[in-house]
Amino acid sequence: MNHTILCFSGTGNSYHVANRLRVILENARVVMIPDLMDDEPIELTEAVGLVFPTYYFLPPVTVVEFIERVFPKLDLTPVRYFYLVTTKNLSGGWTHPITEILLRDRGIALGYASSVRFPNTYIPAFTAPNIMQIEFYYKHAEKKILKIAREIRKETIRPPFRFPLTRFMLEKRMERRFEQVKQSARASFRVTSACDGCELCFRICPTGNIEMVYGKPIFLSDCSGCLGCYHRCPKEAIVFTRRVSSGRYPNHEAHFDKEYRE
Ligand SMILES: Cc1cc2nc3c(=O)[nH]c(=O)nc-3n(C[C@H](O)[C@H](O)[C@H](O)COP(=O)(O)O)c2cc1C
Ligand code: SF4
Ligand code: SF4
Repeated sequence: MNHTILCFSGTGNSYHVANRLRVILENARVVMIPDLMDDEPIELTEAVGLVFPTYYFLPPVTVVEFIERVFPKLDLTPVRYFYLVTTKNLSGGWTHPITEILLRDRGIALGYASSVRFPNTYIPAFTAPNIMQIEFYYKHAEKKILKIAREIRKETIRPPFRFPLTRFMLEKRMERRFEQVKQSARASFRVTSACDGCELCFRICPTGNIEMVYGKPIFLSDCSGCLGCYHRCPKEAIVFTRRVSSGRYPNHEAHFDKEYRE
């Protein structure tokens, strides 16, 4: 069975999972979701997987927009098996049931859902992991990824657990949360004099939310809150305007070198 793995990742944890699944499942390709937002629709395969992180107990804004806007344009005829693998640190919250509802609304039955634990990238609340912690998470993640790959290969049917919350409540919660993410992200960052204008943040931002003005980044109002720019700036020049926990997580383990703009 051929696999198309649709991935979103801020700092590389989910990218790592998508890549490992690609290698283990063999006939698989990884396509980054931000690349599909405005481009021509791609052809799907018999098996399609979604791999992305949990943000605020929910799917990232970009993933929701992708399912709502881009999925209706895709030809789903070849798809026989649809799976979801998310990354999280402590709790995925409503991520799986919300994604299942969004997919069901577009005529897709989610056959399987699982998650993998990784270091927490949410620096406003958690200190960035040290090398030993990163190694610990990656070692345990590998076992889980192998298990997930085995289950996917067998086309295991295990859809997400449905919370005893109504669909209306789930959607209301999601709307509110996304608005908060966008609002807070808008005001969150400033750039210090350490910035050398390398433009990496501009190139890697998955939503095109960063523009370079006179050699320095400015932040627009379409932030997904992924914190990729904050963690991956080589000069650590992007800082929060408010007090946060400390440290950066450049995540060398993931070899996440994807850039969306030139
Ligand atoms: C804005 C934000 C919100 C997050 N919220 C949650 C959460 O609700 N639950 C959780 O377990 N982890 C949470 N995390 C941690 C991420 O889900 C986790 O680190 C994930 O593996 C990051 O994947 P990525 O590197 O592919 O972006 C959050 C991270 C960020 C940046
Ligand atoms: S990645 Fe960092 S150093 Fe490079 S332009 Fe952005 S803020 Fe400046
Ligand atoms: S501005 Fe930074 S945090 Fe916001 S989407 Fe772009 S890379 Fe992610």
